[in-house]
Amino acid sequence: MNERRWSAVDAYFTKTIVKQDAALEAALAANATAGLPQIDVSPPHGKLLHLLARMAGTRKALEIGALGGYSTIWIARALPQDGRLVTLEASETHAAVARRNIARASLSDKVEVRVAPALESLPKIEAEGLAPFDFVFIDADKEQTAEYFAWAVKLAAPGAAIVVDNVIRDGRVAHAKDRDARVRGIRRFLEAVAAEPRVTATTLQTVGSKGYDGFTLAVVGR
Ligand code: DHB
Ligand code: MG
Repeated sequence: MNERRWSAVDAYFTKTIVKQDAALEAALAANATAGLPQIDVSPPHGKLLHLLARMAGTRKALEIGALGGYSTIWIARALPQDGRLVTLEASETHAAVARRNIARASLSDKVEVRVAPALESLPKIEAEGLAPFDFVFIDADKEQTAEYFAWAVKLAAPGAAIVVDNVIRDGRVAHAKDRDARVRGIRRFLEAVAAEPRVTATTLQTVGSKGYDGFTLAVVGR
């Protein structure tokens, strides 16, 4: 098995059942044109986020790490008419691209893009009474994933789903002595999950157009 085959299978499912539309395709094209790193979730993964958000009955969603807003669009499309999504982005450049992509998808009325380091925005979101959130997607700098997870639990509604991207990293997550700061950040996050009595969780390894990686899904108790 190799990455070319994984990508071909992702392309097959994207065309057949994921049904990525023009606004999502345009978002990926705009991100590439703007020179953003091509680390958006894959189309099948985006569709999974959409389906999980629907299954969680999401009215309010929080995303930590917008990049160009590709996953934002998938999640926002799971929201009801009066639903709301707040997405946090540290880079002004990325946020500007995300806002244009979100506007092209006609989602600007539901989505707010906040530009600041997430650990500055999260206390403000709490103070403004924007919580509780039914669905949280964490996909930002991996070093601080444990802190983002703690905030996600704090701001979560009973029964909320929390999804965390990039927890496998070519399998390096299983190497306790790995020196990479991102791998260590993810391991620190997973230790926090294990020690957190308010959530129950699992991790799925994935292959596809984004290589070998995976995500953690945690559900908050009722
Ligand atoms: C990286 C970050 C991501 O969110 C991702 O999906 C893939 C890679 C990274 O920082 O390397
Ligand atoms: Mg990611």
